[in-house]
Amino acid sequence: MKQMLVTGGCGFIGTNFIRYLLEDSDFQGRIINVDSLTYAGNPENLADIQERFPERYCFVKADICDLEALETVFERHAIDTVCHFAAESHVDRSIVRPDAFIRTNIVGTFNLLQMAKKHKDRILLFHHISTDEVFGSLGKNGVFTEETPYRPNSPYSASKAASDHLVRAYHKTYGLPITVSNCSNNYGPYQFPEKLVPLMILNALEGKPLPVYGDGKNVRDWLYVKDHCRAIWLIMKKGKRGETYNIGGNSEVENIRMVEMICDLVDERVGKPETGSRRALITFVKDRPGHDRRYAIDFTKLKETLHWYPEESLSTGIRKTLQWYLEHREWVNRVRSGEYQAWIREHYG
Ligand code: NAD
Ligand code: TYD
Repeated sequence: MKQMLVTGGCGFIGTNFIRYLLEDSDFQGRIINVDSLTYAGNPENLADIQERFPERYCFVKADICDLEALETVFERHAIDTVCHFAAESHVDRSIVRPDAFIRTNIVGTFNLLQMAKKHKDRILLFHHISTDEVFGSLGKNGVFTEETPYRPNSPYSASKAASDHLVRAYHKTYGLPITVSNCSNNYGPYQFPEKLVPLMILNALEGKPLPVYGDGKNVRDWLYVKDHCRAIWLIMKKGKRGETYNIGGNSEVENIRMVEMICDLVDERVGKPETGSRRALITFVKDRPGHDRRYAIDFTKLKETLHWYPEESLSTGIRKTLQWYLEHREWVNRVRSGEYQAWIREHYG
């Protein structure tokens, strides 16, 4: 894998993955990061990487729905590997405006597959990043395995399910070498503060209300983003072509417990407010429509065949994440104020 196309590398997981590959892994090749820089894409995340690895990192601002732009990238950089992160990723946004999800997640993935198929002679692997949300919602018991039927409930998860099926079909029909990973909820550095963990950390620090949907008893499984990145690279290197792998954190928790845990950690780290515990900021709000009750991942396959296990527990991972947001207030301010988008316009038009 010498010339790796990473899509969506300016987003949360893509940024962490590129950093992991270049700083911490045995990857020896070059990365071509294609990102259209939506609200969720911030090239400032990788500004130092551009400076430190000028021979091994290249950024191209392009939309994966633009076939011509993709063709140029595949030709000019002789792409031999694809790691596909680019997506619209936030469930709440998909409920209000599903259009962009259908376009990027389905049509964009289709375009990438078409390009990979066209250049199949030199494509070693097309790795597709997906989510456990494609499996739908669990009751009190049970877990998602790689064999669980797909039953997506939100426009986001339905669009991801469609893209997973397309990737599988390109393997079965055209023999494209693929792997797919379905991962649980990620948290960690560089996550856009619309998702539960960074939103609660920042609101707690600022003494703002902490909006918990419904009764707060929905359960998610949480994985520290670097553990996800390690799993992806392992699957890319050693995973069986044509197969899918579940990735989980062994950290199932009710939303309300997660928010209470964040409150307590913030209290411990920066001191309690005069009013007492930050738990007082918790505010139950109207539930999300179609809100999946519980996700739980069985990642035995990854554990037993590739010997992967998460290194961070929820407690160590959340502590690290809180520390990162405390040390990166400038990043937070630029993202929240929209200044990063002014920078993008200045540099990329
Ligand atoms: P993100 O929203 O933070 O980043 C998405 C990136 O894709 C952004 O940089 C954005 O600019 C880019 N992008 C969007 N539309 C594009 C287009 N048309 N062309 C090119 N680039 C485009 O998302 P994330 O949380 O980093 O998620 C990355 C991938 O991982 C997604 O495929 C998501 O479905 C999957 N995933 C996420 C989680 C999670 O908890 N965040 C869990 C499992 C799987
Ligand atoms: P989110 O981070 O949006 O991830 P996903 O919907 O992909 O799981 O939400 C995680 C859980 O937290 C989910 O059950 C919805 C809930 N939630 C809240 O209760 N309040 C919030 O403000 C947000 C953003 C999410």
